[in-house]
Amino acid sequence: MSISGFLSPSSGRSIAGLVSALLLSACAQVQPTVAADYIGALRCVKCHAAQYDGWQKTRHASAMASLERESQSESTSCLPCHVTGYDAPMGYLDMNATPELAGVQCESCHGPASAHLKNPEQVRTMVPRPGVDSCRKCHTPEQDSAFDYENMSKKVH
Ligand code: HEC
Ligand code: HEC
Ligand code: HEC
Ligand code: HEC
Repeated sequence: MSISGFLSPSSGRSIAGLVSALLLSACAQVQPTVAADYIGALRCVKCHAAQYDGWQKTRHASAMASLERESQSESTSCLPCHVTGYDAPMGYLDMNATPELAGVQCESCHGPASAHLKNPEQVRTMVPRPGVDSCRKCHTPEQDSAFDYENMSKKVH
């Protein structure tokens, strides 16, 4: 596994970030089967166009715009549920460093995808069917008491 795959070219983060990424599986929002980096939904479109197009029409795709409307786009009390990989070492940082991870994207549910991108066919590294626990990190009882997985999981893409 090469080191370069863990470094995000746009943000150029440090070796400390790399080491954290290698330890990621213990603390990531969605547990990946291998350590991986968040790369953003645009990188999925060429192979998963149907899911991408469907997702773009959902409110997840515009979750950052919701914060901007409320002038809360930098609020640490809002960002965890309105961006991708907020608590993960290589996840969302801010709109300058990681604009490609704004909003609730594929990797919020399926886990970080850099390893998948390198080897999509042979090695299964994504969460194939994110379960109710993955939703409940954000659709908490306080935030969304009426959340219904059976119904809502059909509306993600
Ligand atoms: C180069 C093409 C390619 C790209 C780019 C790609 N994928 Fe995939 N993906 C595949 C293929 C091929 C499979 C099917 C693998 C299989 O069934 O064995 C797959 C399967 C999946 C699955 C189902 C996993 C499973 O084990 O059944 C998910 C979820 C997924 N991809 C998410 C993503 C996300 C999210 C991105 C973008 C961050 C992405 N993919 C980018 C080719 C790609
Ligand atoms: C990282 C946080 C996060 C995760 C994980 C998440 N959601 Fe969401 N979800 C949101 C936010 C935030 C919104 C509202 C976005 C907006 O309008 O700005 C939302 C909105 C939705 C909506 C639209 C609600 C409506 O009434 O129109 C559906 C459907 C939904 N989520 C389903 C799911 C399902 C199913 C899962 C798990 C498989 C899930 N979400 C996981 C944060 C999340
Ligand atoms: C615990 C996760 C979580 C946090 C923290 C959070 N949100 Fe959300 N937000 C959601 C979810 C889930 C939805 C979609 C379900 C719903 O409409 O309640 C949502 C929906 C929204 C919406 C669109 C629906 C509406 O009510 O108009 C806005 C705007 C919004 N959030 C703003 C904020 C702001 C501003 C903050 C910070 C003060 C914040 N959120 C913090 C999870 C969260
Ligand atoms: C809110 C959570 C959520 C988001 C965001 C999301 N997915 Fe999914 N995805 C799911 C769930 C849940 C399933 C399982 C659906 C089922 O079993 O019918 C799934 C299934 C899949 C599959 C397996 C084939 C299929 O369609 O059932 C692929 C591939 C996939 N998603 C790719 C993506 C890509 C690419 C994106 C972003 C463009 C994305 N997903 C965004 C929750 C999500």
